Amino acid sequence: MSSHENDNESWKRDFPIKKQDASLISRRDFAKFLTFISGGLMLGSGVIAAEALLFPHKTSDAEHFVCKPEDIPVGGTRSFVIQGSSTPYLMIHLENGSFHAYEQKCTHLSCAVFYAKGTGKIACPCHEGFFNAETGAVLAGPPPRALPKLEVLTKADGLYVREFRKA
Ligand code: FES
Repeated sequence: MSSHENDNESWKRDFPIKKQDASLISRRDFAKFLTFISGGLMLGSGVIAAEALLFPHKTSDAEHFVCKPEDIPVGGTRSFVIQGSSTPYLMIHLENGSFHAYEQKCTHLSCAVFYAKGTGKIACPCHEGFFNAETGAVLAGPPPRALPKLEVLTKADGLYVREFRKA
């Protein structure tokens, strides 16, 4: 008897399970596993649904410093990102003196938008989409919805943004 056969025999002695029994155990374990996963998915869905019902307008109250007002000339812009996010935003200093902040991604196919100085419009160069720089509303072109807007807070030490609070 070779040493290889000896290895095989010792394995059978250590695990004395017939092939047919092993197959039955495997099916039972698989059924338990499926039941466990299904239960977990049901529980997770229930938690998400309950959270949506209990906190329907949950928003972030976090305020993020962008820059000082004098850092952006009238008619100028500043691109920024919020810490912990890769979403690009654009702060615009309109000719009427107000500041507005929007996501810098067009709502059509995500091209980078820019403020067309002196026009009051945010333009998308990809398919000639235009947005109102005061509200973010679509003025022309294929964009299906307004640009997502952030609330701009003017504080003593500079301009901050945060998500709009929903009623
Ligand atoms: S990506 Fe902006 S108009 Fe198409």
